[in-house]
Amino acid sequence: MAILNIIKEGDPILRKTSRPIEKVDARTKQLAQDMLETMRAANGAGLAGVQVGKLRRIVVVETEPDKPYIMINPVIIASEGSQTGAEGCLSIPGKWGLTTRPMTVTVRAIGLDGNEYTVTGSGLTARAFCHEIDHLDGKLYTDIVIRMLDPDEIEEE
Ligand code: NI
Repeated sequence: MAILNIIKEGDPILRKTSRPIEKVDARTKQLAQDMLETMRAANGAGLAGVQVGKLRRIVVVETEPDKPYIMINPVIIASEGSQTGAEGCLSIPGKWGLTTRPMTVTVRAIGLDGNEYTVTGSGLTARAFCHEIDHLDGKLYTDIVIRMLDPDEIEEE
């Protein structure tokens, strides 16, 4: 396993559209493991392939300890409700902004075993699913931010 370099806002690659993964192979599994390790080392809740320079449709999300979601070619197939809260990004370190996201989303994706699955997440998990899948289409949370937060507002949360 390896900790990968996380690309920061301003690099044009973050605005590119990622390509589907055709086949889940040993390289895909290695990438997923490296992404998980990189996300954990950076204390993040999610990471998309593009953020480590791989323009492939793969994301990892971990909003509860040791319960990672690995999503290949993920698609949001249903969403419900809304939530407004603080959102950050490992590519935009030290900053947070208020965004509105669905309260609950259902994602269809392929897992590391090559099989399709669906998962429904709420709250922070739904927010993370939306945020990471947006990365695959070159979108950042700052595109939809209501306003950026001051550091003292974060401490209150
Ligand atoms: Ni992000």
